[in-house]
Amino acid sequence: MAPLIDDITQTVRAELDQEATIKRQLKAKKVYETTAQLKTKKFKGPIEFHVPDIYRSEKPSKLMVQEMVAGQSLDKEAAAYATKIPELKRGIIEEMSKVWAYEIIFGSGFYHSDLHQGNFLVKVQSSDVQVNILDYGMGGVLTQKTRNLLVFLGAALQLKDAEMITQAYWGLSDKSGNQVTKAQLQKLVEKRLSDLDRQGRTEAVEFWTGWASDNGVKLPYDFVNLNRGILIINKSLEEAGSRLTFTEIQKEMAAENPMAIYSALVSSDLMSMTDFVRLGISSMGQSSSSRRSSRNNGPAAPLCESVFLVTH
Ligand SMILES: Nc1ncnc2c1ncn2[C@@H]1O[C@H](COP(=O)(O)OP(=O)(O)O)[C@@H](O)[C@H]1O
Ligand SMILES: [Mg+2]
Repeated sequence: MAPLIDDITQTVRAELDQEATIKRQLKAKKVYETTAQLKTKKFKGPIEFHVPDIYRSEKPSKLMVQEMVAGQSLDKEAAAYATKIPELKRGIIEEMSKVWAYEIIFGSGFYHSDLHQGNFLVKVQSSDVQVNILDYGMGGVLTQKTRNLLVFLGAALQLKDAEMITQAYWGLSDKSGNQVTKAQLQKLVEKRLSDLDRQGRTEAVEFWTGWASDNGVKLPYDFVNLNRGILIINKSLEEAGSRLTFTEIQKEMAAENPMAIYSALVSSDLMSMTDFVRLGISSMGQSSSSRRSSRNNGPAAPLCESVFLVTH
C-alpha cells in the first residue's frame, strides 16, 4: 500500500505545481511545435501542432496566463468532420504519437503524460488542421540513462531475453525499494516469458512494467509517469482505429535511426555487439508494412545495415 500512496501523492503534487507546469509548457513549445502531414483519402494537408504561449508576470503570481487558442476537443472536431474527413482522429493521434515517441527516445527526453483526446484542441481550416496541445500538469524529462534503459528494454522484449529484461528493470529500479532480488526477478521473468509463449502471446512494454511493479520492482516516479503516458497514447491509438502502438512506433523509429540505437545500446555498454546483431536479425522477420514500403530493395533489416556500418 505504501508505494501506491507514495505514487499518488507524487502525482497530485506534480499536478498542483504550477511553476513546473509552466516549465513543461515552455519546453513543449520548443519540441512539439512542428508540421506533420495528414494523408487521408479525402483530405490531404498539413497538421500544425501548436502549444499555447505563456505570458509570465514580473512578480511571483498564483495565476498562469496563457494564449487562448481556438478549437474543440479532438473527439468533437472529429465528429463534426465525420463525413468530410473520416480519418481525422486517427491521423492526428498517429502523427502526434510519433512526435511524442521521437522526443522521448531521440530528442530531449521530454514527455507529456496525459495526452488524451480532451487535451487536443483542434480546428480544421481550409488549408490545414490546427492542433493545439494543452495541459502540461503531468509530464517530465527522462535522463539519458533512463532513455537508454527504455531502448534496451524494448530490445530485450523483442528478443524475449529473460536476462536482458531483468537487467533492464533492475537498472531502472530504485534498488533500496525493491522487494525482490535480481535472481528472483529473473526467475519470475523466465516463467512469464514461457507462460506467454505457451499461450502464443506477447505483451507490450507498458504491461510488462505494470507486471514488474506488481512483482516487487520499485520503479522511480518518472518511469511510472511515462508508463501512464504510454498507456494513454496506446488507448487513443486503439480508439482511433490505428494499427500503431508505442512499441510499433519505437521499432520503426529504431529502424530509421540505427546510429542512435547503437549509441543507446552498445556505446552505453548495455548490450554486447553480438546481441545487437541478434536484435538486427530478429527484426528481419517482421512484416511491418511501412518498413517494407519504405525500402523496396528486399527484406534487409535496417538494424543489420547499421551493424555493417559500424563494424567496417
Ligand atoms: N490555452 C487555452 N486556450 C483555450 N482553451 C483552453 C486553453 N487551455 C485550456 N483550455 C480549456 O480548458 C480545459 C481544461 O484545461 P486543461 O489545461 O486541460 O486542464 P485540466 O487539468 O483541468 O484538464 C481544456 O480542455 C480546454 O477546453
Ligand atoms: Mg486537460
